[in-house]
Amino acid sequence: MALSVSAVCSGITPSATLRLNALAAEKRRQGLDVISLAAGEPDFPTPEHIRAAGCAAIDAGRTVYTATAGIPELRAELAARYRRLGVPYQADQMIVTTGAKQALLGALTALLNPGDEVLLPAPCWLSYPEMIRMAGGVPVPVIASAGEGFIPSPRQLKAAVTGRTRAVLLNNPCNPTGAVWSGEQLLSLCELARRHDLAIISDEIYESLCYEGRSSTVTAGLSEDALERTVTVSGFSKAYAMTGWRLGWAAGPRHIIAAMDAWQGHATGNPSSVSQYAGLEALRGDQSGVETMRLAFEQRRALILSLLDGVPGLRYTVPYGAFYVLADVRGLLGKRCRGEVIGSAGRLCELLMEHALVSIVPGDGFYAPGCVRLSYAIKESRLAEAVRRIKAFAESLE
Ligand SMILES: Cc1ncc(COP(=O)(O)O)c(C=O)c1O
Repeated sequence: MALSVSAVCSGITPSATLRLNALAAEKRRQGLDVISLAAGEPDFPTPEHIRAAGCAAIDAGRTVYTATAGIPELRAELAARYRRLGVPYQADQMIVTTGAKQALLGALTALLNPGDEVLLPAPCWLSYPEMIRMAGGVPVPVIASAGEGFIPSPRQLKAAVTGRTRAVLLNNPCNPTGAVWSGEQLLSLCELARRHDLAIISDEIYESLCYEGRSSTVTAGLSEDALERTVTVSGFSKAYAMTGWRLGWAAGPRHIIAAMDAWQGHATGNPSSVSQYAGLEALRGDQSGVETMRLAFEQRRALILSLLDGVPGLRYTVPYGAFYVLADVRGLLGKRCRGEVIGSAGRLCELLMEHALVSIVPGDGFYAPGCVRLSYAIKESRLAEAVRRIKAFAESLE
């Protein structure tokens, strides 16, 4: 008899992109030129000095277990980084994790009891609801429209609070919308959290990627109360192009960080020792690569937005952070592609792959039905060619 899968794991929604990835792989096997605008990672290599620090760590034999919460130098460096931003974190309020992903799951596990509800300003990253369920909680999306800049109002958020609400999980800047919360919007959120005694989990993984003069605010730095009720999550993946190194962190109240440390100690132990030494160099060394990459993203953003303006049936809300555009494609739904009526954004993405060899992600998993997410973490020439194909495809629909 086949082994049965647990309730937790059988409840996990498989990634919406799996089918599309399989289609793309099949096309590539046939030698076809597929362009992916589905990526969630910078296309730049990790800066040279950071790679060198990783190699040096291996050569120096720093290949053994470290403290679960990370090497003391790295925790201290992270705390100092926040203090430079005016947020008074100390080293023992930091935990280094295997990517921001593990920091998020650890924070949720440390905070939630079974059945606790977590408010999710949405559209939001598709892993959040799954992580909340894995930690025993219940995701409660609070969906904002494009007209609201994809950021729910205090009134909307308040209406979603129940006696079971334990936390709010926000992503600033946001994947998939590119929305950047203003200080004022964050202050309202903090006030709501204070009034209802909620924890705030603030995922700031895209904090270094803001455009047109915008900047992202560290939620925990807004007040003493915010500092006490917020777990800040961030990491090296996006700012330093270090996705494969699997290195992130969380910062927060000491007892929550201690709980995350205890959980992590039994779950995975320390994040990779080699990655931690590379991360230390990332923080201590030359920071110019961060700005160089941000500027490249800013240029690509301008390019994709100007090209998308010419695509019939597609509308977008200007993103100010991260490297995604969430586009509304309802203007294309109901049209025909070679006789087939296109019924959903998911089907549109499949047909786009089939006939235009471009991969984009349907919005359903982000609580954005009728939308698609386009990543501009790709060279400008390829980006331009991808949007040219999308335009030709949209024009071909009847
Ligand atoms: C919103 C958001 N949070 C967290 C992560 C995870 O980042 P990491 O590579 O540090 O685990 C991602 C990755 O795509 C993300 O988009």
